[in-house]
Amino acid sequence: MITYRVTFATLFVCLVLGESSSRNDIVTYEEVEASKDNTTVYLIDVRQPCELTETGFIPGAINIPINKVEDTLKNFSPEDFSQKFQRSKPELDSVLVFYCTVGVRSAKAQQIALDLGYVNAKNYLGSWLDWRAKSNLVKTT
Ligand SMILES: *[C@@H]1O[C@H](CO)[C@@H](O)[C@H](O)[C@H]1NC(C)=O
Repeated sequence: MITYRVTFATLFVCLVLGESSSRNDIVTYEEVEASKDNTTVYLIDVRQPCELTETGFIPGAINIPINKVEDTLKNFSPEDFSQKFQRSKPELDSVLVFYCTVGVRSAKAQQIALDLGYVNAKNYLGSWLDWRAKSNLVKTT
């Protein structure tokens, strides 16, 4: 009887935690829009610079190409970071929202950040294609 209850409790906890974590680490278009001017949220475009030049990018985003994400978050001093990105280096509990073109590279970036201890690393799963479709973007550059 005791065994049964422990097992049931464990299963219940796993279900609840599993569900809430998969909800919390995926960001929607509406959430990106709402946090655009929020200086505690870092919107990070992990595409290559030439892709941003070609398509534009989400206002307020900083560009850290996927192959530089680990080095930048791990090795940049706060001074180096703010010099390069004109923003203070994120704290481990800052909200980091990664995006790319379709959400695949940004999922990798999110995992890299999580592994480095950035507990609020999130993925804008719809990424650029979703944002472009939903915003009335006019290419300006
Ligand atoms: C900014 O984002 C943080 C983290 O998501 C949130 O706690 C805070 O309420 C937001 N601030 C505003 C003004 O929306």
